[in-house]
Amino acid sequence: MLKELMILFFCHTASAVIHSLICNFMISSGLPNAPEYLVILNLDNVLMAYYDTNMKTVEPRQHWLKEMKKEDLDTWENYMQNAPLYQYRLAEDTKSFFQQQTGGFHVIQQITGCEWDDETGGIHSFTIFGYNGEDFIIFDKDTKTWIASTPEAEIAKENFNGKKARTEEFKTYHKNDCPILLKKSFNYAKSVLHRTVLPSVSLLQKTPSSPVSCHATGFYPNRAMMFWRKDREEIHERVVHREMLPNQDGTFQIQIDLNISSVTPEDWRRYDCVFQLSGIKEDVVIGLETSLIRTNCGTCKKSYEVIVLLVLIIIGAIGFTVYKKKKEQPPTSPPETDCELSERLNSETIQDPAHCATSS
Ligand SMILES: *[C@@H]1O[C@H](CO)[C@@H](O)[C@H](O)[C@H]1NC(C)=O
Repeated sequence: MLKELMILFFCHTASAVIHSLICNFMISSGLPNAPEYLVILNLDNVLMAYYDTNMKTVEPRQHWLKEMKKEDLDTWENYMQNAPLYQYRLAEDTKSFFQQQTGGFHVIQQITGCEWDDETGGIHSFTIFGYNGEDFIIFDKDTKTWIASTPEAEIAKENFNGKKARTEEFKTYHKNDCPILLKKSFNYAKSVLHRTVLPSVSLLQKTPSSPVSCHATGFYPNRAMMFWRKDREEIHERVVHREMLPNQDGTFQIQIDLNISSVTPEDWRRYDCVFQLSGIKEDVVIGLETSLIRTNCGTCKKSYEVIVLLVLIIIGAIGFTVYKKKKEQPPTSPPETDCELSERLNSETIQDPAHCATSS
């Protein structure tokens, strides 16, 4: 269910009248480069706020959070001020998760949230605890008890069901707090969540023999398509699609590479790159032209928490097995500069990246 939920929330559809507020808490140990605790709060699949143990306070990631009225802000601030402290509560709650496990890493996730159907008014709230990427115990809304998802979770389940007062807190959160915060937040976020923004599209190339990347960034929502054309026909050969990535400001970016090694200079003008955003009739089209290709490399800056966010998305979407497998391409942060971008494009081939000074 953990996986299905995450997939559901990361791929919401155009017809959605279901709004969601989902908080993802994660404690980890033994994982290199991961903070020991982090909190991600998403509203309708868009990052609202982020916290991890490398930061002092919770960071709002949407400007409308700063425009909230006093009485609404209180609900929100109360919620987020408690997020850093919740680390200890979560650790305490989940102590029994790894009783029999030794060594290696531990990742404990709590996904708590609610969904609101703004047509019927129906509310559905949930809490799922995960251990190392698998569902562990789930709150059953009918019986108001915790149920184990695996035999290993039996002890933890007994433990949870024995804590009546704590279970009451979850019930109150499910029934009152979460729906209230969701509705209040949605009121402010409506105009932002229902907007459509076209991206800026550019062509990037590391060296004259590298593939040309068509890169679109800053678009919203994430229902977008991009492809290369030759003579106005979509092509698939020698084309590599990169995964769509979230930007820090809630918009998205996407990239698609074309290997032009066998394209003669006269044929360049027959190619173009097309970006289409759902709900917008006009496409953004950029022709393959030397003069339009950017290759420069400025100073680079890496964004640590976005890497973490991506790691989390991967954990949620395809399960923890990703850590056990050798990955061909590690997740990288969305580029912020041309330099980072060309660095990312060529991460496999770069021999000496020293000219792109990185800092973290
Ligand atoms: C591009 O295609 C050529 C031949 O079609 C191949 O040799 C080369 O490795 C490809 N480049 C990349 C970066 O995939």
